[in-house]
Amino acid sequence: MYKKDTVCVHPTRCPKAAYGAVATPIFQSATFAHEGVDIESEYSYSRLQNPTRATLESRVAELEGGVDAIAFASGMAAEATLMNLFESQGHIIASDDLYGGTLRLFRHISSPAGVRFNFMDTTSSENIRKALQKDTRAVYVETPSNPTMKVTDIAAAAEIAHSAGALLIVDNTFLSPLFQRPLELGADIVIHSGTKYLGGHNDTLAGFLVARDKEISEKLRFYAKTVGASLAPFDCFLLERGIKTLAVRLEKQAANAEKIAHWLRLRPEVRKVYYIGFPDHPGYEITRRQCSGFGGMLSLEVDSPETARKVLREVKLFQYAESLGGVDSLITYPMCQTHADVPEAERFRRGINDRFLRISVGIENADDLIEDLRKALENQA
Ligand SMILES: Cc1ncc(COP(=O)(O)O)c(C=O)c1O
Repeated sequence: MYKKDTVCVHPTRCPKAAYGAVATPIFQSATFAHEGVDIESEYSYSRLQNPTRATLESRVAELEGGVDAIAFASGMAAEATLMNLFESQGHIIASDDLYGGTLRLFRHISSPAGVRFNFMDTTSSENIRKALQKDTRAVYVETPSNPTMKVTDIAAAAEIAHSAGALLIVDNTFLSPLFQRPLELGADIVIHSGTKYLGGHNDTLAGFLVARDKEISEKLRFYAKTVGASLAPFDCFLLERGIKTLAVRLEKQAANAEKIAHWLRLRPEVRKVYYIGFPDHPGYEITRRQCSGFGGMLSLEVDSPETARKVLREVKLFQYAESLGGVDSLITYPMCQTHADVPEAERFRRGINDRFLRISVGIENADDLIEDLRKALENQA
């Protein structure tokens, strides 16, 4: 068995490319001719499957340790397709600190359709256990969470979910399979916004559902082909190209993030830094147990809304933009971007106020990034 950084480049499950092509060929064809009426063809129509997508999906399934991965046009397309599993009924326990788009899906589409949710702090396994109901169908967590970097114990959550016959679903976008593999810890389904670390270049949207067993994968495939939000061949190619460098990108991003987090913590303008690599982070021990790296994400609370706005205005290398995980460092104001749709009282309770910023660290030189932040924080204008 190869290590995962080798699998990024040389997956063992992918079919060999035609003509010995080293880069994944793009099969830009909507449909595939059949050889005869009674002859089974591997491919028929690209909504169902396409050779470029099949190669990508087997690479992602192997990295996450799943039986199958399905590629979608975005992370939200993957999540919306996933929710069909619950057939508009039953109860789901979900982290209260989720990406805003996921909360919007749950609150404004899944809830009115009949699924009941309990949103809670899933960093406490006891909270999850107490919230179980007779018809709990799933526990849904993002760990570390977006944007306050809370850590949920995946193995404990899996054990509790399974004790009630429910699934554990984990959004693994923030750490990627290089640093965290929820299926190996007992989760049943992994979600990715492939737009982020897997793609890695801020040039395409993508999403994935990865299944631990065949029964779940068959159901998800049925919904995927029926809903039809499949990833297009060219975007599959971009993901293929991105994943080949995932390990080197992530290593640099994680090293940069660690340096920046420690630097920020000593700044007088910074009240709090949310970073899972700090030994005094409440989830540090769990992170050490279930992850092999701390990732490239951190958030911070500065001393005033004016400082927050000044930083967003003054940075030169960091770009004030949504998204994360790419080679370019980005800075986000969750209050008016990723979490704008979350009701204000709830946002404030979670600490996402007008002083809260989220940083996705890229692969630039760490000292240049620090200098960029220093100038932005100190600028008197
Ligand atoms: C943790 C997480 N999950 C899911 C999504 C949704 O993914 P996409 O933007 O690819 O639809 C995002 C987007 O920011 C995210 O941060």
